[in-house]
Amino acid sequence: MSQAILQMQGVSKTFPGVKALDQATLNVYPGEVMALLGENGAGKSTLMKVLTGIYHADSGSIHYFGSPMTFAGPRDSMEQGISIIHQELNLIEELSIAENIFLGRELCAKGGRIDWPAMYREADKLLAHLKVGRSSREQIKALSLGEKQMVEIAKALSFEAKVIIMDEPTDALTLQETESLFKVINELREQGRGIVYISHRLSEIFQICDKLTVLRDGEFIAEREVAEMDEDAVIELMVGRRLDEYYPTVEASQGRVSLKVDKLSGPGVNKVSFELHEGEILGFSGLMGAGRSELMRLLFGDTRKTAGSVSLYGETLNLNHPSQGIAAGISYISEDRKGDGLVLGMSVKTNMSLSALAALSHVGGHIKRGEEAKQVARFIDAFNIKTPSEEQIIGNLSGGNQQKVAIAKGLMTEPKVLILDEPTRGVDVGAKKEIYELINQFKQRGMSILLISSDMPEVLGMSDRILVMHEGQISGEFDVAEATQEGLLAAAVGRNE
Ligand SMILES: Nc1ncnc2c1ncn2[C@@H]1O[C@H](COP(=O)(O)OP(=O)(O)OP(=O)(O)O)[C@@H](O)[C@H]1O
Ligand SMILES: [Mg+2]
Repeated sequence: MSQAILQMQGVSKTFPGVKALDQATLNVYPGEVMALLGENGAGKSTLMKVLTGIYHADSGSIHYFGSPMTFAGPRDSMEQGISIIHQELNLIEELSIAENIFLGRELCAKGGRIDWPAMYREADKLLAHLKVGRSSREQIKALSLGEKQMVEIAKALSFEAKVIIMDEPTDALTLQETESLFKVINELREQGRGIVYISHRLSEIFQICDKLTVLRDGEFIAEREVAEMDEDAVIELMVGRRLDEYYPTVEASQGRVSLKVDKLSGPGVNKVSFELHEGEILGFSGLMGAGRSELMRLLFGDTRKTAGSVSLYGETLNLNHPSQGIAAGISYISEDRKGDGLVLGMSVKTNMSLSALAALSHVGGHIKRGEEAKQVARFIDAFNIKTPSEEQIIGNLSGGNQQKVAIAKGLMTEPKVLILDEPTRGVDVGAKKEIYELINQFKQRGMSILLISSDMPEVLGMSDRILVMHEGQISGEFDVAEATQEGLLAAAVGRNE
């Protein structure tokens, strides 16, 4: 076996009230992809932040090419050949793609002036290599979430790194984007670089990784060859127990029609019609960009319709603002938790109750603090949200736990129609199941649920009925009993047999 490029040993790190890392260990080998696995809050991102000098460990050691090493900060680690794609995007929306890629290390011509043509050229090359169909002169804010993620990847590849860390890189990527990323990872492997790959999508681990390291509650659990493992075995290492019945389907008696959408058109949406019942989970499948999120935005009042109608329990809705959607009983949980889901600088409690303030307030506008605290505590408990207290700043929670808060936030408004947009993105296997069970409870109580998911097994496992969208229109409808992945995919690309 080849010598590790990088060895982290016995790394511990405590935050106020949280032991994030407890004697964690990680090896990175040349020409190999090392998966770093563990439940939400297991310490994966923290370990990578210790490595890149963003956090200082309380104890432990790092060996880099055989020598003991500590990196003073992100810049230092970068200069020594370690590049990282963070879990949360760190791009500046108003700047161009090229400016973002070379931020802080702009290419200079002789005389010290910034060499714009060279920068655009280099950035365009990187984009072409990653098959991103954009010019590097375009602003970040014009990009989709997936494209922004690709820019982060381009940035990490823009210098000769020996170790490349990818913290949930495919979280927001389309199938094609993921494929181009995997091609690039294979090239990096062939060039002898070491890669750390963090993901909650286990199928990807088997597709692209050579070895895997598992952390649990900040502790090192195991390092294994991927070829020796199967999915159940990996889950058992991560969770500490076997996990069966992945999609806990429940029967609920379907009631009246709650939501009726008739030939609805608007930005990105073209003449969409469907009915949703009480106690029904209606899945929405389709490729990214098919118009699913756009449709949901119309439904809860974030954008304006141009034609068609929406009614809720027979009452026509003409919504002009999300707050009107919430007031009418429609709650939307966004796929982009950092962009418009959560206020990262505020506490867990405030984030959760933000949308529900109207329901939690007395007539005079005073918030019923007792009721608020009770509900927040209930959701923290029910969702098993890992936080030292409800007062914790949400930016300090792990990515998956932030996602759980976002869902709790939507549920606290006690909606009639709950719209979940990629609800388990970035959520670990155990927590996914907890979220599914919660969704089922709401279904059994008669809530109507719209579930958008790019994860086909999830749509197939959780929905009662599935609509597929393609280019802003409904391109297929399936009863879950007769739906297959192939059928959904065919409809998603607009091929209707
Ligand atoms: N800056 C911080 N301040 C306080 N607590 C923190 C901070 N950063 C991380 N933590 C805590 O440390 C623990 C480990 O978090 P980390 O982000 O490393 O988890 P993770 O394994 O990356 O999870 P995920 O899969 O959800 O991304 C969590 O309990 C988290 O809340
Ligand atoms: Mg993380």
